[in-house]
Amino acid sequence: MRIRVLSADDVRRALPMREAVEAMKRAFAQLSTGQAEVPLRVPVHVPRHNGLTLFMPAYLAADDRMAVKIVSVFNDNPARGLPLIHALVVVVDAETGQPAAVMEGGYLTALRTGAASGAATDLLARLDASTVAVFGAGVQGRTQLEAVCAVRQIRQAWVYDVDPDRARRYAEEMGARLGIPVHIASTPAEAARPADVICTATTSSVPVFGDAHVRPGTHINAVGAYTPEMREVPTETVLRARVVIDHRTASLAEAGDLLIPIREGRMTEEHIWAELGEIVAGRKAGRLSPDEVTLFKSVGVAVQDVAAAAAVLEAARRQNLGVEVSL
Ligand SMILES: NC(=O)c1ccc[n+]([C@@H]2O[C@H](COP(=O)([O-])OP(=O)(O)OC[C@H]3O[C@@H](n4cnc5c(N)ncnc54)[C@H](O)[C@@H]3O)[C@@H](O)[C@H]2O)c1
Repeated sequence: MRIRVLSADDVRRALPMREAVEAMKRAFAQLSTGQAEVPLRVPVHVPRHNGLTLFMPAYLAADDRMAVKIVSVFNDNPARGLPLIHALVVVVDAETGQPAAVMEGGYLTALRTGAASGAATDLLARLDASTVAVFGAGVQGRTQLEAVCAVRQIRQAWVYDVDPDRARRYAEEMGARLGIPVHIASTPAEAARPADVICTATTSSVPVFGDAHVRPGTHINAVGAYTPEMREVPTETVLRARVVIDHRTASLAEAGDLLIPIREGRMTEEHIWAELGEIVAGRKAGRLSPDEVTLFKSVGVAVQDVAAAAAVLEAARRQNLGVEVSL
């Protein structure tokens, strides 16, 4: 039995963002039309080493693709000079059950998280959107901007981070990579005000911009907050937005951006308009007017990892990337 081993660099070379966006649309459509099997992720706690490892499997029935992601968050790692998070994806051949590939999962996660926002932006943002604001100059903030640039003619971007050094490095790197001016905002308002598309990819637990700074017609991708207590978007913005989510079950368990306004008694679950996959599948409309605010709230679903990893493996086979190992 032979298995392909792919590094983060191989993953990056194999799958351009635009193709990842299309892979996400197919994955979300399968998720929202009963064609995906997504068992609850399995957490294994390792209190002795202040760590947690999550096992996230999924199967896409229409595409006949299966994979599992293993993500570890070990809190003592930074003090040891090691990354906080490690991730690995194993692709399993859905026809035979044979392991087909092992690939680095950190960049794959950033790629698929960006690509989901790219799919949402393509379906929900105004066609003439040209200015992006990114909150959070980290790993996810980079693929958020790449993804929006893959689906709209973006002419300039703004970045805001509570750490100005990170914002500066981001602006230099992303400006050079994408060939657009990336301005550093000194306040959240300076970034949000001119934006047609706002991406929030922070580790914040409280809203990262004020509702007054969001113009009518803006599309927002909110990907950072992932627990019922964390949020990046103010309640007022959620209330005036057409809200689209990645996965109803996961959102209602984890998305503080929606659960906090529900707990405050300001909205009910009925305010959630659709899953992204329902829009891809044509079961629900996307944006209905140029003036409405649209909000895509993502917490991340294992079908995204399966779709991205399967697409990476196909491209890697064509381009002969990585190494093949006999087990
Ligand atoms: N939705 C998904 O599928 C998905 C996938 C991966 C990660 N995430 C989440 O996205 C978030 C960001 O992840 P990352 O890997 O980019 O982390 P990161 O540490 O690389 O970057 C986060 C950045 O946010 C900045 N920040 C914190 N508070 C801020 C604020 N109030 N305003 C502006 N900037 C602020 C930090 O200074 C940092 O630069 C995390 O919460 C992570 O769990 C979500």
